[in-house]
Amino acid sequence: MCGIVGYIGYKDVKDILLTGLQTLEYRGYDSAGVALFTDKDIVVYKDKGRIEHLRQIVGSEASCTGIGHTRWATHGVPNHVNSHPHQSLDGRFVLVHNGVIENDDELKHKYFVDYKFKSETDTELVVELLSYYVRKYKAVDVALRHLMNRLHGSYALAILDKEDPDVIYIVKNKSPLLIGKGDGFNMVGSDVMAMLKETNEFYELDDLEYAKITKEKIEIYEITGALIERESFSSKLDPNDMEKGTYAHFMLKEIEEQPFVLRRIIDEYKKDEKLYMDEEIINAVRQSDRLYIIAAGTSYHAGLIGKELFEKIAKIPVEVHISSEFVYNTPLMSQKPLFIFISQSGETADSRASLVKIKKMGYQSLAITNVEGSTLYRETNYQLLLHAGPEIAVASTKAYSAQIAVLSILAYLVGDINDFDLRHELSLVANVIETLCDENELFEEIAKKTFTKRNCFYIGRCIDFYVAQEAALKLKEISYIQTEGFASGELKHGTIALIEDDTPVIAVISQENTNLNTRSNIKEVKARGANTVIISLKSLSAEKDQIVIDDVHPLLTPLVTIIPTQLLAYYAALHRDLDIDKPRNLAKSVTVE
Ligand code: AGP
Ligand code: GLU
Repeated sequence: MCGIVGYIGYKDVKDILLTGLQTLEYRGYDSAGVALFTDKDIVVYKDKGRIEHLRQIVGSEASCTGIGHTRWATHGVPNHVNSHPHQSLDGRFVLVHNGVIENDDELKHKYFVDYKFKSETDTELVVELLSYYVRKYKAVDVALRHLMNRLHGSYALAILDKEDPDVIYIVKNKSPLLIGKGDGFNMVGSDVMAMLKETNEFYELDDLEYAKITKEKIEIYEITGALIERESFSSKLDPNDMEKGTYAHFMLKEIEEQPFVLRRIIDEYKKDEKLYMDEEIINAVRQSDRLYIIAAGTSYHAGLIGKELFEKIAKIPVEVHISSEFVYNTPLMSQKPLFIFISQSGETADSRASLVKIKKMGYQSLAITNVEGSTLYRETNYQLLLHAGPEIAVASTKAYSAQIAVLSILAYLVGDINDFDLRHELSLVANVIETLCDENELFEEIAKKTFTKRNCFYIGRCIDFYVAQEAALKLKEISYIQTEGFASGELKHGTIALIEDDTPVIAVISQENTNLNTRSNIKEVKARGANTVIISLKSLSAEKDQIVIDDVHPLLTPLVTIIPTQLLAYYAALHRDLDIDKPRNLAKSVTVE
């Protein structure tokens, strides 16, 4: 969600900022802006709309120090005034902010009763409060510490001070922010991707820390003012992974990457030609009497499949919770729980809030994430990486299959299973996905014929119901067709009232024990006018099933049945001429609660 880039050094900063912001576009935003330090002043360019628009309005001043921002509005509509950077009334400080200040009203009433704020944002309060503290305490670092003590909520801040052109200040609490170290320059950014073109040496900033960055020096401080020694790290990301290449959209590229991702996972998690994961992790799972999977959105749906895998393969009971619910309604815990946080980004605020809560309760946690060094990665006891490569499209596809694959390997190793060879089964899955991805034309055709209404249903039973929920999320988030993923047998208990002529109902059938029941449910809706599509496995298929998939291991079927649904969603959105990679109102990493 939203992003920050900053640079201080010797190169012209405009292009570095705009390119950096472009790599953060995938996170979702509605406005963009930059502040450039010139030899005379700090100039600000900002507006609502895309970075391309910002590129056109940015002036030609020479500048080697600046900060940039993409905004995902939380306080006030997206417009020019609310866009960042914001400048203090006295003109001294210019600041960008990601996050939400929860006590902005209280602070406005306390410190700024007669002040007329120009924007509706919580951010303007931050820049004014900073300037107030600097006037009061006469030193920026003291003022920053007071600011951090006073603000409640999430904030990643990058700040320019007109009286000190040689420094960028940054402050962090709960919103992601990293420092990039260069030779003769330094950077700040919301993630490594925003800086990777310039450098591959990074420093993390923890919550309630701030830093003073010049072109030669990086100083990180605790809220007490104590200087911190921190090790740097590098990223394995390849900047080329962030390009679309010949694909029209990242989403299609990422769907088609799934066979490679599975093969990479098999390779990353092997030793002596056998599947392998860190023994400490395997033991931590074995020692727990119940697993609690915590996640949001697509990752939550992968967690549902994880429950099947752990209960059926490793025989450990599992609860799966939506992170935003779990944090405010924690269930009665078992004696020895282990918490598994599944998150592509590793930054989802709801999941992080749950992690903070269970850590306070003294419980152990494992993060399964795509982003090494992300907040969940850093703050959990154990970590497993997805190795999916950067996922840029807002709609998650390859991360979902990577999550299921990693969960399956973990369950398999924990269960110490010998009656099937998971490595071999996953390679077969990769082959089947490859075949499915070659059938684009079929999916395009079905999408065209099927999605003729404003609403749609995906149905299935048990593991297929979990896939139906993810399929529905995929379709609604990029095509804006109102879609529900429903347990087939539950339809007749109420929801069937919504079926009318041509309502699309798509069934997922991958399990022998539920095949006939779901087919009966399909007949019920067909009798009421529904336009039905069946996705089935070859061994269970019937003559008129529109999408038939080669068989795979019964517990791995979600990895193949999800593929047609991802492609159907893609083509539904394509035919509606929608912004597939950046659907409206959505952000790639949701860093506010
Ligand atoms: C998926 O298509 C979504 N855009 C969204 O539901 C996402 O899965 C969710 O926000 C969780 O993100 P995470 O995996 O990065 O934690
Ligand atoms: N809360 C701030 C605003 O609405 C920052 C939003 C963001 O993180 O982009 O302007």
